[in-house]
Amino acid sequence: MAAPAAPSTIRWEQDDTGVVTLTLDDPGQSANTMNAAFAASLAAVADRLEAEREGVRGVIVTSAKKTFFAGGDLNDLLAVRPEQAGELHERGMAMKRNLRRIETLGVPVVAAINGAALGGGLEIALACHHRVALDAPGSKIGLPEATLGLLPGGGGVARTVRLLGITDALLNVLLQGRQYRPRQAMEKGLVHEVVDTPEEMLARARAFIDANPSSVQPWDVKGYRIPGGTPANPKFAANLPAFPANLAKQLGGAPYPAQRNILAAAVEGAQVDFETAQAIESRYFTELATGQTAKNMIQAFFFDLQAVNSGRSRPRGVEPRKVRKVAVLGAGMMGAGIAYACAKAGIEVVLKDVSAEAAEKGKAYSAGLLDKALARGRTTPGKREALLARITPTAEAADLAGCDAVIEAVFEDTALKHKVFAEIQDVVAPDALLCSNTSTIPITSLAEGVERQQDFIGLHFFSPVDKMPLVEIIRGGRTGDEATARAFDLVRQIGKTPIVVGDSRGFFTSRVIGRFINEGVALVAEGVDPASVEQAAAQAGYPAKVLSLMDELTLTLPRKIRNEARRAVEAAGGTWEPHPADAVIDRMVDEFGRTGRSGGAGFYEYDADGRRAGLWPGLREHFTRPDAAVPFTDMKERMLFSEALDSVRCLQEGVLTSVADANIGSILGIGFPGWTGGVLQYINGYEGGLPGFTARARELQALYGDRFAPPALLVEKAEKGETFTDTPGTPAA
Ligand code: NAI
Repeated sequence: MAAPAAPSTIRWEQDDTGVVTLTLDDPGQSANTMNAAFAASLAAVADRLEAEREGVRGVIVTSAKKTFFAGGDLNDLLAVRPEQAGELHERGMAMKRNLRRIETLGVPVVAAINGAALGGGLEIALACHHRVALDAPGSKIGLPEATLGLLPGGGGVARTVRLLGITDALLNVLLQGRQYRPRQAMEKGLVHEVVDTPEEMLARARAFIDANPSSVQPWDVKGYRIPGGTPANPKFAANLPAFPANLAKQLGGAPYPAQRNILAAAVEGAQVDFETAQAIESRYFTELATGQTAKNMIQAFFFDLQAVNSGRSRPRGVEPRKVRKVAVLGAGMMGAGIAYACAKAGIEVVLKDVSAEAAEKGKAYSAGLLDKALARGRTTPGKREALLARITPTAEAADLAGCDAVIEAVFEDTALKHKVFAEIQDVVAPDALLCSNTSTIPITSLAEGVERQQDFIGLHFFSPVDKMPLVEIIRGGRTGDEATARAFDLVRQIGKTPIVVGDSRGFFTSRVIGRFINEGVALVAEGVDPASVEQAAAQAGYPAKVLSLMDELTLTLPRKIRNEARRAVEAAGGTWEPHPADAVIDRMVDEFGRTGRSGGAGFYEYDADGRRAGLWPGLREHFTRPDAAVPFTDMKERMLFSEALDSVRCLQEGVLTSVADANIGSILGIGFPGWTGGVLQYINGYEGGLPGFTARARELQALYGDRFAPPALLVEKAEKGETFTDTPGTPAA
């Protein structure tokens, strides 16, 4: 007995002039995706079009959903196993053959892009002869597959290369997975027309059909040449070697296989006929989709990010509430940035510092950012004025009356922070949320400075505030659920991503990034050439090299943190274990007076403008030993493992309560390499899974010290065959 036919996800409507409108409308789903039902519907539509070809004058492809088409089914891709490669390849090729049948039917096919067309959505549109995009709010057009460790495997590489030329396709569309607003997409050559109303969109689609009764794609016209040439052309071939070299330089040797495969698929595909190019593209796609990096990136950048932003860590049962007026205390680097972020989100800001001048200077920072945005066409004079009008600089506590939230960012000093909260707690609204942006002081002890300790919470922004997408919310010992939920809502209100962590020295992010830095400096202590240490960090995929990062943070900071930590350990009757990095930091500061970039000299030399001017040659002289022999793989893994292992400890200690928060916080806050999917997904995806990771940690422990000892929680999970996940039962690896 035949299986019941799946309901069609493509509606067919034909008018009496012979125009067929195909409406993408997956029943029961909020968005259209490339699932099995779509594949079957597409095949059926291609059959019918061919069969009824004589009566069809043109085809319009549009969607009944808010988005045109959402793309591949990521749940499917997360679950696909390497042994299913053949099946995955065949499924992709079948879908592409069906799109190709419609593309080569000989009648005009127009995409009426009524909403976002990302990934698979744009690939369907690219198979059409003409693309009209509606400038709907939130509409984005692009092929973001690279950001998930994939490549556009639905003909997106083959067609953009033919449409735009190899160079533009790679740089504007494929390698970075950029997403464009409809008008920008038109400038880049991805769509032909942009309209403002759905009626106009359909009218333009019909007009194209009327004017082009027998459309073919440019690449199906005999003698078509790819714009800008192909490697077969000597001039282009001469430039080609620069491509892989530039790419390698950009990636710093980091393991981002998607970019390599995109480059290969584009270049190889440009030298063959269209059908072969599609097959090449599918082969490279399948390799990525069955590999670990894509799974890591899909888990982090799609599923974890969504879970975090949608409130996985927000306490339940607290009514959402918007902040209307915020007091920012301290108009220094952080306070000024926080004021800008709040005002940008439409919140009234009272920016307070010790003097009116200092507060004005903080406001001027926003004016500076807006001037730059204006120069780049990213804002308008009207919006600039409106934003600035929302910021009131002041030196008077009385001006904070009525503020329903406070964000403190004065100097890092407990007594001062207590003092400023004491000054304002009776002036602001009686139930105002009280937040501190401290980077190191435990929230529980800071809360002792206010009367309403349940309303006091850490709100740790990252610098520069306008660029950094993460905010770390820290619950102190007495912070209530209501305050946590309100802090969460405030972070979402300003469009950033909130993670929620428990109180600990350095909380989660600063504590874990400290392990990375210490590991890099420890390698210098062992006599490894500092250039190799930096190279190891780059090849591991870190966006900032480890010694240069230490210079940015200043070398006196780890000393201060270390001394405080030591006092706390000793006060509790414990013994303090020094880290191998300590001696190098001490010598750099005490013997050589090199405190980092702000001091004009650190691991690097700096020119008069504060720009890095090479590693300090003294490092080699004083620290490097020719017999130092740490294998390169060990260097990279020591950095990655030190952070991952400490994150497991954070989970064990309750500093972290969510795997998604850990993964997202590590990538967006402290530059843990994106290809890993984050600190805990790195462990899930490590070769051999948790048991493999645990065994490797023990090896590193034997070679380099007990800081690599696997924590109990890791050993336990490895033994039980579990992975790090927030949703038990779903495999994350
Ligand atoms: P900053 O030195 O640039 O600014 C501090 C500001 O506080 C100054 O403008 C000062 O005049 C003002 N201030 C001092 N006493 C005050 C008072 N009684 N009332 C009002 N304002 C007063 O310092 P920055 O870098 O902005 O740091 C501020 C806080 O943010 C610190 O707690 C720091 O640990 C934390 N933080 C810093 C990060 C960074 O990257 N710099 C990152 C995350 C947190």
